[in-house]
Amino acid sequence: MVDILPLSSFPSYINLLPSVQTCNITNLPENYFLKYYLYHALTWPQLSFVAVVRPKGGYGNGRGYDHSYPKVVGYVLAKMEEEPSDGMAHGHITSLSVMRTHRRLGIAERLMRMSQRAMAESHRAHYVSLHVRVSNNAALRLYRDTLGFEVEKIESKYYADGEDAYAMHLDLKSMWLDWTEVDKEDAAAAAAAAAEEKKDGDDEHADEGEPVGDLGKNGEDKEKEKMVRVKVGRGLGVGDLVERNESAAR
Ligand SMILES: CC(C)(COP(=O)(O)OP(=O)(O)OC[C@H]1O[C@@H](n2cnc3c(N)ncnc32)[C@H](O)[C@@H]1OP(=O)(O)O)[C@@H](O)C(=O)NCCC(=O)NCCS
Repeated sequence: MVDILPLSSFPSYINLLPSVQTCNITNLPENYFLKYYLYHALTWPQLSFVAVVRPKGGYGNGRGYDHSYPKVVGYVLAKMEEEPSDGMAHGHITSLSVMRTHRRLGIAERLMRMSQRAMAESHRAHYVSLHVRVSNNAALRLYRDTLGFEVEKIESKYYADGEDAYAMHLDLKSMWLDWTEVDKEDAAAAAAAAAEEKKDGDDEHADEGEPVGDLGKNGEDKEKEKMVRVKVGRGLGVGDLVERNESAAR
């Protein structure tokens, strides 16, 4: 069975990067230093995914770590454009490949769709862009016919061997999350919880039973912990993560 995991989830993270690199070297002439994979995983952890076949019997045998990593059969390495020339936040597919043994199973399509969704939901990307060799029919069919990408232009001699590239893009705005709806749902859930709490408090004859376990015994004395709702997945611009030069302010 093939599973698709975020590149940055345990245990795929650093452990699997060399296998992702091997998958790339096996399938494509455009290759990268290992640190470039790590840079993607650290900088845009939501956007890259790996397709893996898990070892039989799981990762551990109950007697310590057994070193049987899942086998990487495909990956999509993706990022947000760091300095978009058009000023619009958008994603970019750095690399995609699937091992020959696992092709035509829909793996590339799933990897791409998961990355596209993450770009839209986590980073509010307006669109996703990529380059593909004009001779790469399989990839072109995947991007254009299956996923709906459009050719923006042909970039002459884009590749090191002189081949031209199609520069393609796909609009992602329809996948943006509607936070007003999410906020409304949160408010409704909070109001329902408050009403439930009030009802419990009003019921003098409620049978509370005996306290169970340490948590129950301490519960009466303990001040109730306040639950704080936080939204996850909002876009955090790379600019926000850049260290500031504090000396300039002085
Ligand atoms: C291109 C590639 C990633 C496709 O991976 P895949 O997992 O086999 O693709 P999928 O099974 O998700 O295919 C989805 C659709 O893409 C198209 N497609 C994929 N491979 C194709 C092929 N060899 N010929 C024609 N169409 C193809 C089909 O429309 C397919 O849908 P279908 O199977 O229902 O007909 C894979 O062939 C590969 O790794 N190639 C070498 C690396 C590469 O070229 N990467 C892209 C660089 S831009």
